[in-house]
Amino acid sequence: MNILILGGGGREHALAWAVLQNPKCDRLIVAPGNAGIARIAECASFDIENGAATVAFVEENAIDFVIVGPEAPLAAGVADRLRDAGVLVFGPSLEAARLEASKGFTKEICDAAGAPTAGYARFTEAAPAKEYIRAEGAPIVVKADGLAAGKGVIVAMDVDTALAAIDDMFGGEFGAAGAEVVIEEFMEGEEASFFVLCDGETVLPIGTAQDHKRVGEGDTGPNTGGMGAYSPAPVMTDAVTEKALEEIVKPTMAEMARRGAPYQGVLYVGLMIKDGQPRLVEYNVRFGDPECQVLMMRLGAQALDLMQAAAEGRLAGMRVNWAEDHAMTVVLAARGYPGAYEKGSEIRGLDSLPETSEEMCFHAGTVEKDGRILANGGRVLNVTARGDSLAAARARAYAMADAIDWPEGFYRRDIGWRALGEV
Ligand code: AMP
Ligand code: GLY
Repeated sequence: MNILILGGGGREHALAWAVLQNPKCDRLIVAPGNAGIARIAECASFDIENGAATVAFVEENAIDFVIVGPEAPLAAGVADRLRDAGVLVFGPSLEAARLEASKGFTKEICDAAGAPTAGYARFTEAAPAKEYIRAEGAPIVVKADGLAAGKGVIVAMDVDTALAAIDDMFGGEFGAAGAEVVIEEFMEGEEASFFVLCDGETVLPIGTAQDHKRVGEGDTGPNTGGMGAYSPAPVMTDAVTEKALEEIVKPTMAEMARRGAPYQGVLYVGLMIKDGQPRLVEYNVRFGDPECQVLMMRLGAQALDLMQAAAEGRLAGMRVNWAEDHAMTVVLAARGYPGAYEKGSEIRGLDSLPETSEEMCFHAGTVEKDGRILANGGRVLNVTARGDSLAAARARAYAMADAIDWPEGFYRRDIGWRALGEV
């Protein structure tokens, strides 16, 4: 099978690594890829948000299966164009991808499906939005409706912050994403990410994870794309998982199918759990990054069979073979991230790292130049390891991080602190 993966982050390196372990894979191309991916697969360069360009590449290279990593190609309808051209593709349609692309749409679906989530109101003008905030009081959450690279959510602990967020959003700070605003009740609890595959009808859980969104230790400082993750998430007990499936995920998937927009691909279910009751925070229509890295480390070669079964509508009867172990990934980022940072600094020591089924350094923003690996983004590397316990996985991951010689980078030393009881 000739496979094309779209994307070039740590998520796609982990997907490529898992896919290559499956003997079904004859040839793997990743577009655009990165320096780490280039060591294990072919990389190609074309506009992955352009459906026609993607279809042309697929036809020229006799690709049998396309796996879409990030949300941007999905939100641009690339999966639809591929399906129209008769190509097997893992990833939802443009209509189904609205579960991530529009927060207002997701709220409407949750209402119709009866899925527990935060109370909310939608606004297209500042004055009534501010009136609502003053009436509700703080804490309160203000969200740009559309895709804003993870930055369109303001958790306001006081009314003034929430009012300022309204001015920013309607003032154009988030572009078209902020033309509509969703204001939500603040939910307390512990967050976890739940990942399921869906083939339009059948839902198959493939794992849980916890991310660390804040840049600083002890979950302080500004939000990032994610500074580290581990799997499984202890808060996702069997009872909570069952509730999330029956009360949230399955009714949502049924509602999407009822509307003629069946969901196919991976659904990332962001949950807030309090007193054993999960409520939906958000859906994403793709794997999380860095959550994918820990999921792939635990799934290995079967990840390809599962994604293919989702794309072919064969999830009923599929099973996930779980190793009863733990995985952790720690993100190495360029100093300054998530604010301004420099590109081009050299990273040394990568050749000394182990590369096994239990330890991998997945690349994100890296580029190779004259045989040297250079930083080329904000989040740059993901040291990822498995272990019999979370503590064992963590020790291995940090041993890798410590072996990397990159003075211009940094990482959090406390990934997993909540699960390990270091409060
Ligand atoms: P989102 O992009 O919707 O995941 O929001 C980013 C982060 O904001 C989430 O991971 C939560 O930590 C927080 N958040 C979003 N909505 C709420 C809410 N209604 N109550 C409390 N925290 C929230
Ligand atoms: N790590 C969070 C995300 O991928 O959205």
